[in-house]
Amino acid sequence: MKKFLVTGGDGFIGSAICKMLLNMGIKVISLDNRSRNRKFENKKLYKSLNCDITDYRELKKIKGSFDSIIHLAFINGTKYFYEKPEDVIKVGIMGTYNILRFAKKKKIKNFYISSSSEVYQTPQIIPTDENETMKVPDPYNPRYSYGSSKIMTEIMSIHMGKNIFKKMIIFRPHNVYGPNMGNEHVIPEIINKIKNALKFKKNYIKIQGTGNETRSFNHINDFVGGIKLLINKRLKFETFNIGNSEEVKINYLAKKIMKKMNVNLKIKYQNLTKGSTSRRCPNINKIKKLGYKINYPLDKGLDDTIIWYLKN
Ligand SMILES: NC(=O)c1ccc[n+]([C@@H]2O[C@H](COP(=O)([O-])OP(=O)(O)OC[C@H]3O[C@@H](n4cnc5c(N)ncnc54)[C@H](O)[C@@H]3O)[C@@H](O)[C@H]2O)c1
Repeated sequence: MKKFLVTGGDGFIGSAICKMLLNMGIKVISLDNRSRNRKFENKKLYKSLNCDITDYRELKKIKGSFDSIIHLAFINGTKYFYEKPEDVIKVGIMGTYNILRFAKKKKIKNFYISSSSEVYQTPQIIPTDENETMKVPDPYNPRYSYGSSKIMTEIMSIHMGKNIFKKMIIFRPHNVYGPNMGNEHVIPEIINKIKNALKFKKNYIKIQGTGNETRSFNHINDFVGGIKLLINKRLKFETFNIGNSEEVKINYLAKKIMKKMNVNLKIKYQNLTKGSTSRRCPNINKIKKLGYKINYPLDKGLDDTIIWYLKN
């Protein structure tokens, strides 16, 4: 039976990937330091380790062998890039360095690492394919602690990984969303603002920017389908965007969410946080060639997310 270690396994994406691996009949060990105060529970889980990837001594204590690692542990959420850039860099770079050393010690054959659409920052071409230049526009802006750490973790995985792995896949998620995704992302932020406006009897919500900025949102079920393909296909060292090429304006998104929640509030606009990109949409042709499909376009995908945030 195949055995996978998933770092960040208690997180939003990690728990969905653990569930998918368990459904595939794979033995799964989830590793996380529980910094998000959540734990993935499933009776089929082989082990759930409480471990900090920035401490190599903790990793060294992990017993047993694995075929594959899916490395997701990172500090995610835009607010934290501005507030805790040192921690973002430490977990991103030191943590990934430790995981790569650990992978070498354990003679891991297959390595999957999560990068991000943030590596493109302000792309020259939209929809953006995997060949777009990766950039750090301003090293003094704390926001880029995240994008620059992701760029470094890609480079580390390629060059440290070439003597370790048979298969090494970098995937770049683009605005993944779904139930229980945390509160630090666009969709839950809008839903929570609407909930608060109703609670405090306000007739408006505030959103960042002019409303004309765009993003492309990828439902977690489609995203996980993409990861499954990357695991099942015979590949060597490759990089893939995973996302949805349906580019929408934030205004459109806010109005769509309001319509689904049966409310009609005004929208007030605030300054964008410094360093935020105005357009983002991935070119997903490369992963589509492997059979990737969108089964949850935004209109359908928003439903379970809104229901979850209304209940919780
Ligand atoms: N959600 C998205 O839209 C999105 C977009 C682009 C990239 N990504 C990347 O995908 C991965 C998963 O993201 P997510 O949305 O599930 O975020 P998440 O915050 O829900 O999950 C990350 C997990 O990593 C764990 N972690 C943090 N520091 C750790 C440490 N020192 N040791 C061990 N575990 C630690 C956290 O406790 C958390 O459970 C991350 O690498 C993220 O950067 C996500």
